Amino acid sequence: MSIYSDYIKSVIRTVPDWPQPGVNFRDITPVLQNSAAFRKLIDSFVHRYQEMEIDAIAAIDARGFIIGAPLAYELGCSFVPVRKKGKLPFKTISETYTLEYGESTVELHSDAFREGDRILVMDDLIATGGTMLAACKLIERTGGIVVETAAIIDLPELGGSAKIREEGHSVFAACS
Ligand code: PRP
Ligand code: ADE
Ligand code: MG
Repeated sequence: MSIYSDYIKSVIRTVPDWPQPGVNFRDITPVLQNSAAFRKLIDSFVHRYQEMEIDAIAAIDARGFIIGAPLAYELGCSFVPVRKKGKLPFKTISETYTLEYGESTVELHSDAFREGDRILVMDDLIATGGTMLAACKLIERTGGIVVETAAIIDLPELGGSAKIREEGHSVFAACS
């Protein structure tokens, strides 16, 4: 949990029954609209990662980009997009994973990392953990080392962060 955990949590909006009945959607747009809250959010990640010698942030399409890019700028490291299928123009590798309903595929450029690069994997939210784990697999296939997986919000009741830890990765969330 981050230094500003309670504050960031208080700014995130929960929208019940969206996009379907039974889902409590965690809407991060109020954080983005509030410059003080957005700064505290990015600062909480900077505080955690500034001494960890991160070579690159692998941020997940689409909401992961919003926090991954300013964090890469602040840390002075590379930014690498993990994109949904069919968006990357060069040679790609892909991982297909199961969602609560159906499946999805994420892709990475095959030359995104050098062997042994230290990678922080970044997304806005961990639910079932499928998206984050698929990104970790892509990074390891290209020779990168996953230093940690990070998100603004973890929903531990959905079991994703536990699954990610079972696969041997560290998990950090700004709030849960
Ligand atoms: C959402 C969210 C995470 C993922 C979490 O992305 O931004 O990436 O689901 O779910 P999981 O832990 O069960 O895999 P989504 O693809 O729905 O939308 P986005 O393109 O707005 O990021
Ligand atoms: N992605 C998967 N589950 C979500 C939730 N409850 N809120 C926001 N994004 C999500
Ligand atoms: Mg997403």
